[in-house]
Amino acid sequence: MKIQVIIGSTRPNRFSEKPAKWIFEKLSKMEGVEAELIDLRNWPLPFFNEPMSPNASKGKYTLDLAAKWAEKIGEGDAYIMVTPEYNHGYSAVLKNAIDYVFAQWHNKPVAFISYGGIAAGTRAVQQLRQVVIELQMVPIRNGVHFPFSWTMVDENGNLKPGAFESAEDTAKNMLEQLIWFAKMLKTAREETTMSS
Ligand SMILES: Cc1cc2nc3c(=O)[nH]c(=O)nc-3n(C[C@H](O)[C@H](O)[C@H](O)COP(=O)(O)O)c2cc1C
Repeated sequence: MKIQVIIGSTRPNRFSEKPAKWIFEKLSKMEGVEAELIDLRNWPLPFFNEPMSPNASKGKYTLDLAAKWAEKIGEGDAYIMVTPEYNHGYSAVLKNAIDYVFAQWHNKPVAFISYGGIAAGTRAVQQLRQVVIELQMVPIRNGVHFPFSWTMVDENGNLKPGAFESAEDTAKNMLEQLIWFAKMLKTAREETTMSS
């Protein structure tokens, strides 16, 4: 089972990669799980400008990178999207990456890790939940949310020791749910088809 962790910010001094690497390391140690860290910096997709939506074009792209991106997402059986909160929403770079793909997201579960100020990025996650349902995904109930993420790093931008400790149990629950749905949906995808 392949689980892809998507880093939802590409800023130079982003926080995003810290929780992404933290959860990626946990996944890497799990038996039966192949973990992949997907850095959107390595996927410099332009703002969506294909002549047709990936739904209408049935996954045919004019841009080679877009076709490769859809193929990459198609390899996943489950996803963890790691998102900041920007103006009470999620990042534009993440939305753009989501919009480039359609069928490859279908019938797969997704969990969320968020961070930001007092609301810990939860407003961004609530919006993402609506979006992924249109992509026929299964958003997992349990997520991990870090408030005041900027206090979790020192003046050099390094993670403070024990910064993620309080989230260990929540992360465990989230992964348990994600893997449960990943197994069920993988079996279902292999055994049956569903029209979109
Ligand atoms: C354009 C912008 C808007 C932001 N708006 C919010 C916000 O509405 N709520 C919040 O909690 N944090 C907000 N923040 C703070 C970010 O959540 C915080 O800086 C976070 O570390 C950014 O994620 P990143 O470092 O991975 O890019 C905002 C940051 C930026 C750059």
